[in-house]
Amino acid sequence: MSGNFEGKKVIVAGGSTGVGLAAARQLHHAKAQVTITGRSKEKLAQAADSVPGIKTVAVDSSDRAALDQFFQEQGPIDHLVVTLSGGKGAGQFSTLPLTDLLEGFEGKFWPQLHTVQAALPHISKNGSITIVTAVSSILGLPGTSGLAAINGSLELMIPAIAKEIKPVRINAVSPGVIDTPWWDFLPQADKQAAFNEYAAQTPAGRVGQPDEVANGILFLAGNNFVTGTVIRIDGGLSL
Ligand SMILES: NC(=O)c1ccc[n+]([C@@H]2O[C@H](COP(=O)([O-])OP(=O)(O)OC[C@H]3O[C@@H](n4cnc5c(N)ncnc54)[C@H](OP(=O)(O)O)[C@@H]3O)[C@@H](O)[C@H]2O)c1
Repeated sequence: MSGNFEGKKVIVAGGSTGVGLAAARQLHHAKAQVTITGRSKEKLAQAADSVPGIKTVAVDSSDRAALDQFFQEQGPIDHLVVTLSGGKGAGQFSTLPLTDLLEGFEGKFWPQLHTVQAALPHISKNGSITIVTAVSSILGLPGTSGLAAINGSLELMIPAIAKEIKPVRINAVSPGVIDTPWWDFLPQADKQAAFNEYAAQTPAGRVGQPDEVANGILFLAGNNFVTGTVIRIDGGLSL
C-alpha cells in the first residue's frame, strides 16, 4: 500500500541532523522501525534523545567495508534514505581549488553511491531508495559549478539505476536552500544574511525547512508507482 510505513525497516544514512533527522522523525511517527547512521556518536546520541525509539549506529559512509558489515548486520530492509553530505566544492570555477572539488565528491558523491550499492542486496523487492541531491545541479548559479557536478552526476544516474534494480525503486529529492546545521560553518550573522539573499531569489520568499524535504522523501519512499525520478523541493529557486 502506498505510504504505509507501519513495521517497515528503514535506514536513514546521515540521519543524525537536518533533513535526515526530520525524515527519521516523520518515518518514526509513521510507525516505521528507523535506524539512523552518522559518524559523530555525539550527534547520534542527541538525535536519539530528540526522537525516542529510533536506533542509531555510528558508521562512516566513506568506509565501504564498514558499510558492508553494517548492512549485513541489519539483515533485510524495506527502505533506504541517503541524506549525507560533504561541504566542499563551492566557489568560482576560475579560482576553485580542484582539490576542494575532489573533497566535495569524496564527501557526498562516493559515500552516497557506496551506501546505495552496499544496501542493495538487502533491500526488499517492494522497497525503495531515496537519495538527497541539490538544485545546484540545474541552477546555473555562479559559484556552484562544482556542486552542480556532484549533485548533477547523482541525479543523472537515477533513471538508469532505476531500470537496473527494478522492482526496487530509486528516486532523488533535490532541495533548494534549507535551514539545517549544514550552514553552521558560517557565523550566525553571515548565515542569516545568506538565507535572506536566497529568500529574495526564491518565489516562496523564504528558505526551506528540513520537514518540507522530509515530506518529499516520505512521498517517494511510500508511493510504489514512482521510480527513476528527481523531485525538486526548492520553493521555486530553480525556476
Ligand atoms: N541544507 C541545505 O541548504 C541543502 C541544500 C541542498 C541540498 N542539501 C543536501 O541535503 C542533504 C542533507 O543535508 P543537511 O542540510 O540535512 O545536512 P546536515 O544537517 O549537515 O546533515 C548531514 C548528515 O550526514 C551525516 N554524514 C555526513 N557525512 C557522512 C558520512 N561520511 N558517513 C555517515 N554520515 C555522514 C552527518 O553526520 P556526521 O557529520 O556525524 O557524519 C549528518 O547526519 C545533503 O545531501 C545535502 O547536500 C542540503
